[in-house]
Amino acid sequence: MRRRIVAGNWKMNGTRVALAEFLARLQRAEAPGRCHWLLFPPALLLAEAREAAAELGLGLGVQTLHPEPAGAFTGELAAEMAADAGASWALLGHSERRLLFGESNDDVAARVLAAVRAGLQPMLCLGETLAQREQGRAEEVVLEQLRAVLKQVPAAWTGGAIAYEPVWAIGTGKTASPQQAQAMHGVVRAELERHGTDCAAMPILYGGSVKPDNAVELFAQNDVDGALVGGASLDPEAFLAIIAAMESHG
Ligand code: PGA
Repeated sequence: MRRRIVAGNWKMNGTRVALAEFLARLQRAEAPGRCHWLLFPPALLLAEAREAAAELGLGLGVQTLHPEPAGAFTGELAAEMAADAGASWALLGHSERRLLFGESNDDVAARVLAAVRAGLQPMLCLGETLAQREQGRAEEVVLEQLRAVLKQVPAAWTGGAIAYEPVWAIGTGKTASPQQAQAMHGVVRAELERHGTDCAAMPILYGGSVKPDNAVELFAQNDVDGALVGGASLDPEAFLAIIAAMESHG
């Protein structure tokens, strides 16, 4: 049975007050039984979230990291520092990192290795742009992104997760149809199976304008094991409703 995960990606949003309110709302809710819940807040809020998250069983992660463990890299954060601050996950290769900050497939692979080195579970994001989809290259692009990482990690790699996030669906209100999501998740799953049997059990999350009203249909797909939620995760009611949708699928 693959793990089910709903993760919130706050991107560059949130204050200590907003975080406290969010966590207080989660504390009043019923903790998920079968699905794991995770939050990727801005790294500056990790220490603030740590205690309440531990009580809630809410996993915490950073949104990026630098491949080196320490050194003269002004402004950067090492995987080891993230672990020290309370993170157990690292979101890597998000399309905003790839497109706005120039992270190549190899850069992303180096960050995944750094996360594994520091004992963090990587959540590897994959996704094609609209132009790539229209050119019929969506699968090729996603597989290239995945293979760049798989060739660096051992076949026994089990921790972590994949998040398929078509770039054209992020923050746009356009979700991939459940069929489009399932088709790409199937392609990713087959590649993971080729890499190794342990790896094949890795959960594959869908991301891109996931909301309470489209989550149910997405989660009904065989290879959709959860969601990576951006905008809607800033609202605890929406985040909890998406978790409830995942719980009802077991
Ligand atoms: P969105 O973002 O849910 O706001 O589309 C998803 C993401 O970028 O992780």
